[in-house]
Amino acid sequence: MKPKVYVTRKFHFSASHRVYNPMWSDEENKIIFGKCSNPGGHGHNYELEVTVAGSPDTHTGYVIDIGKLKEMIEKEVIEQLDHRNLNTDVPFLQGRIPSSENLIVALWDHIACLLPPEVELVRLRLWETPRNCFEYYGEKL
Ligand code: NI
Repeated sequence: MKPKVYVTRKFHFSASHRVYNPMWSDEENKIIFGKCSNPGGHGHNYELEVTVAGSPDTHTGYVIDIGKLKEMIEKEVIEQLDHRNLNTDVPFLQGRIPSSENLIVALWDHIACLLPPEVELVRLRLWETPRNCFEYYGEKL
């Protein structure tokens, strides 16, 4: 048996969104989503924690080279989100209401397929504000 170690890297991005359902009128959206559906949208300073797990490599002692993980996720994920409009600018969010719940699920598939085979993605944690946090473990109901 080899030890299983969890490694977390935190990322930051700023983005705007308007939470609304395009099938509903502005009035209906206002009743359900309140100020989150204001037509001009609003912004958040998001924090994204990415946790992977694996066994320390015999030669390096690393589960994963965090520097490489950082570069890869910055390039492939954060650059697509940072200073963007989540309703219109992000290909992997097209057709979804850009709530943090939908964002974190979309991020899971996007990040999981970037990782080397020796590590597994075990948790994403998305902070929309310092008080509102969303977690996803890849589970389905
Ligand atoms: Ni919001």
